[in-house]
Amino acid sequence: MIASPEPLTSDLRVDGVRLLDRLRVLGEVGSTGDGGCARLALTDADRAGRDLVLAWMEDLGLEVGVDEIGNVVATAPGTDPDLAPVMCGSHIDTVRTGGIYDGNLGVLAGLEVLETLATAGIRTRRPLAVAFFTDEEGSRFAPDMLGSLTYVGGLALEEAQDICAVDDGARLGDELERIGYAGPLPCPGVVPHAFVELHVEQGPVLEAEGIHLGAVTGVQGISWQELTITGQSNHAGTTPMAHRHDAGYAAARIATFVRDLATELGPPQVATVGRIELHPNLVNVVAARATLTVDLRHTDEVALGEAERRLAAFCEQLAADEGVTITSVLLARFEPVAFDPAMIALVEASATELGHSVRRMSSGAGHDAQMLARVCPASMIFTPSVGGISHNPAEYTAPAHLEAGANVLLAVLVALAEVVS
Ligand code: HGY
Ligand code: MN
Ligand code: MN
Repeated sequence: MIASPEPLTSDLRVDGVRLLDRLRVLGEVGSTGDGGCARLALTDADRAGRDLVLAWMEDLGLEVGVDEIGNVVATAPGTDPDLAPVMCGSHIDTVRTGGIYDGNLGVLAGLEVLETLATAGIRTRRPLAVAFFTDEEGSRFAPDMLGSLTYVGGLALEEAQDICAVDDGARLGDELERIGYAGPLPCPGVVPHAFVELHVEQGPVLEAEGIHLGAVTGVQGISWQELTITGQSNHAGTTPMAHRHDAGYAAARIATFVRDLATELGPPQVATVGRIELHPNLVNVVAARATLTVDLRHTDEVALGEAERRLAAFCEQLAADEGVTITSVLLARFEPVAFDPAMIALVEASATELGHSVRRMSSGAGHDAQMLARVCPASMIFTPSVGGISHNPAEYTAPAHLEAGANVLLAVLVALAEVVS
């Protein structure tokens, strides 16, 4: 548990223009030309983003370390170097339709805080670190938060290295080597004194309530499955409907079932079929095989388990009715996480101290902070997302809100690391 340090009442503030500029420059790496960027984990675009941020870290004179799963931690020494660091950070890998703020804000705001402190000649008792974790999105290599999960010892390094990409089957360990980010530092990594993550909300709540910032209380439970439906390819013209074992139809039934299930169970239950692939995927062939993903989430573990059981029962009946087989592979399964009460209170008090409206709220999205919370006190700071949009090139947060979030991050970090001079 952390002591409940008082938020720093000082007039020190980040340089919002410099932060915005770095967000824009990093957003151009892997640009999709529509205001967004695509830097799927361990692709060449991810490497380019990593190289850029690592260069900024080195330019600041930070001690930069890369671990065996490619996590990067940059540290400013404290006056008492033997103490565990206060850490902030997030991720810089993106989904294929990524915006420029998801993850990137938490890393670049951390860098901005360290540069602000260095420029002001402020030293802290504890070391201060900013990190970016490998493959937070999990879109290419499941599960999500893979790098931070390995960092805290929740996934064995060898197991993580053997995970294969959903797009091209590449092995994670080989891709790390290929992009030059299989580092020397061991996993699990150094346990921080505390961890704070600044992140865009990616949802509609703060904007709808006209509130500047969120003090995040925890993260909802996540269940990802990949279902494989095996039917029988057949001629689209000659095969009577009653004779079909149509994997494409079964996949469509599952997609509508999970939507109806979420509607029936009501908020906060959410359900998404984000990926469907048919084989042979041809206009005149009844699909032999379908592969689809189901993403179920809920703030309550029992309710999430119930949604999983309802889906399994539906698939069993569907398989019998359609004469297909349906198998499931669990890609990710994380129970809901509650953040540290003192950390939540510190985020809230720091935001209030800086004159910002703030509310406590849970996170619908997964984040690296939920993994760090396994080993140290953690919490998050949310900034509003315009229209609640994310995982979309139109993702946007107003500069004033970005700057407010970074200033609260500054206040929280120095309160935890204890200013010496
Ligand atoms: O899926 C998530 O919640 C996060 O974007 N990885
Ligand atoms: Mn994110
Ligand atoms: Mn994301």
